[in-house]
Amino acid sequence: MEFRAVHGSLVEQPCDVLVVNLFEGVTEPGGATGAVDKALDGLISLTIREEEFEGRLGQTLVIRTRDQIPASKVLVVGLGKQDEFGTTEIMRASGAAARKCIDLRAHKVTSVLHGAGVAGIHPRESARAVALGTILGTYQHTRLKTENIKPNMIDTFEIVELSAEKLDHITQGIRRAEIVGNAVTFARDLVNEPSNVVTPSYLSSVAEEIARENSLECRVLDRQGIEEAGMELLAAVARGSAQEPRFVELKYKTSDNLKTIALIGKGITFDSGGYSLKSQDQMYGMKDDMAGAAAVLAAMRALAQIKPSVNVIALVPATENAIGGGAIHPGDVFTSLSGKTVEVVNTDAEGRLILADAVAYAVKSGSDEIIDVATLTGACVTALGVEISGILGNDQVLVDKLIKAGESCGEKLWQLPLHRNYRKMLDSDIADLKNVAGREAGAIIGALFIESFTNNTPWAHIDLSSATIDKDNELARKGATGIPTGTLIEYIASEVEKGRE
Ligand code: BES
Ligand code: ZN
Ligand code: ZN
Repeated sequence: MEFRAVHGSLVEQPCDVLVVNLFEGVTEPGGATGAVDKALDGLISLTIREEEFEGRLGQTLVIRTRDQIPASKVLVVGLGKQDEFGTTEIMRASGAAARKCIDLRAHKVTSVLHGAGVAGIHPRESARAVALGTILGTYQHTRLKTENIKPNMIDTFEIVELSAEKLDHITQGIRRAEIVGNAVTFARDLVNEPSNVVTPSYLSSVAEEIARENSLECRVLDRQGIEEAGMELLAAVARGSAQEPRFVELKYKTSDNLKTIALIGKGITFDSGGYSLKSQDQMYGMKDDMAGAAAVLAAMRALAQIKPSVNVIALVPATENAIGGGAIHPGDVFTSLSGKTVEVVNTDAEGRLILADAVAYAVKSGSDEIIDVATLTGACVTALGVEISGILGNDQVLVDKLIKAGESCGEKLWQLPLHRNYRKMLDSDIADLKNVAGREAGAIIGALFIESFTNNTPWAHIDLSSATIDKDNELARKGATGIPTGTLIEYIASEVEKGRE
C-alpha cells in the first residue's frame, strides 16, 4: 500500500472509494464532506437520513455515485462524538474505513484528512493517525492459511488537502506512520506465528537480520554463553526445554555523550508453566509470551530508520518455559547475574526470572534508563482486561511520558501503584527473595520483583495485558496487537526531538 499526500479538491479525484466523515449526531454534513455532498446534489445528506446513519465511531455508509464526481463510491465513516474526539478516534475511524474499502475490493482510495483543525489537532498528527489507522486496521496474518483469504487490494491511499501549506506536514505524518505501522505489524507477525516457528533461535536470527539490514551491532549468547555470563536465572528457566535459549543484545549507538536507554523484552516463546504446570485452558495462547520481545525488536528496527540522537540497547532473554528431565523444581534456588539469590517457589513465574538477569545486565552495562516489556501476570489481565496494559515504575516522569506516547498511537497504558510495602512479601526463608507472593496484587508484586534488580536506575515496566485480543476491533483483528511497539518508538523519538528544540 502506497500512501500519498495530494494537493487538490476531493471532488476532483478519480478513485474507487472516496472516504469522507461525519461526527455523531450531525445530520447536515459540513466542511469537506459538505462539499462532496453538494457535488453529489445532496445525495450524502439524503442517504444519511434514509439509512438513519448516526456517525458512531467506525460506523460506515457506502454511497454509489452517478458520474457527478470521478470517484466510483463514497464511503462515509463515523467519527463518534465531537467532544470525545482525538488521535485514537482518527485511527479507529481510519481503520474501520480501510477495512470497508477492502470489502469493496478498492484498489485506489482517496481520503479526507479526518479531524484536521478539530480540537487543535495538527495536520501532521491527523495524517499520521489516518495512515497508521489504515495500516493497522488492514493488517491480517494469512501466512498459514491456504484458503478463504480476502487479500487487501488497496495499492494507493491518498490523503487530499486543499490548502498547499499543509501538504508537507501531511507527508511527514505519513512517513512516520509508515515506519511505526510497519514496525507494529512486524511485531504482530512475530506474535501470531506459532511457537513451533518462533523459537528462541528464531528470535535471535530476527535480531541478527535487523542488525544486518540497519547496520546495528548484535551479540547473541547461546545456552553455554548464558551460563558463562552468570545469567543463572535465564539458564534455570531454559533447563526444561529441548530448544536452545538465547540472550540477544541489539545495539543502536550514536554517541557516548548521549544517554543510553535499555529496552528489555520478555522472550518466552512458549509458557507451559513448567512443573507449576498451567491448565489446558490457561496454556493455550501462551505462544504470545514473547510479545515483549517482539515489540522491542520491532521498535529497534523502526528506530534505526528514524535515527534519533540517543543510544538504545535492546535486550531479549529468550527461552521456552517447558517441562523435561532437567527442568527446575519449585523450591530450587539460583543466583542471578546481580548476585542476589532467588528461590523459585513457582516455576510459572518465569518471566520475572529472565527479566531480572536482563535488568542486571542493563545495569552492569551502564544504561541510564530501563524500560521492560513483558506479558508478566494474569493478574494484570484481570485488573485491566485485554485492551489496556499496566505500567509501573520508579520514575514518574518516565512513566508519564510513556503513557503519553501510547496515547499518540492507540496503545492504552494505565499506571498501577508500585506499592513498596508489599516488597517484604517477596522475602524468602532460604534465599534473598522468592519469585512469588500470595494471590493478591499480582501485577504489583511482579513489578516489585523486577525493581529489586534495577539498582535505582530510572525504570518503567509495562505489564503487557493487551498483547493479544480475543475479538476484532477497528485497529487489530483477533490475535496479536503489536502493543507497545508504537509507544516505545514514539517515546524515544519524541524524547530526542524535544531535546533538540
Ligand atoms: N505469561 C504468564 C502471564 C500471563 C498469563 C499473561 C495469562 C497473560 C495472560 C506468566 O509467566 C505467568 O504465568 N504468571 C503467573 C504468575 C503467578 C504464578 C504469580 C500468573 O499470572 O498466573
Ligand atoms: Zn508463566
Ligand atoms: Zn510467562
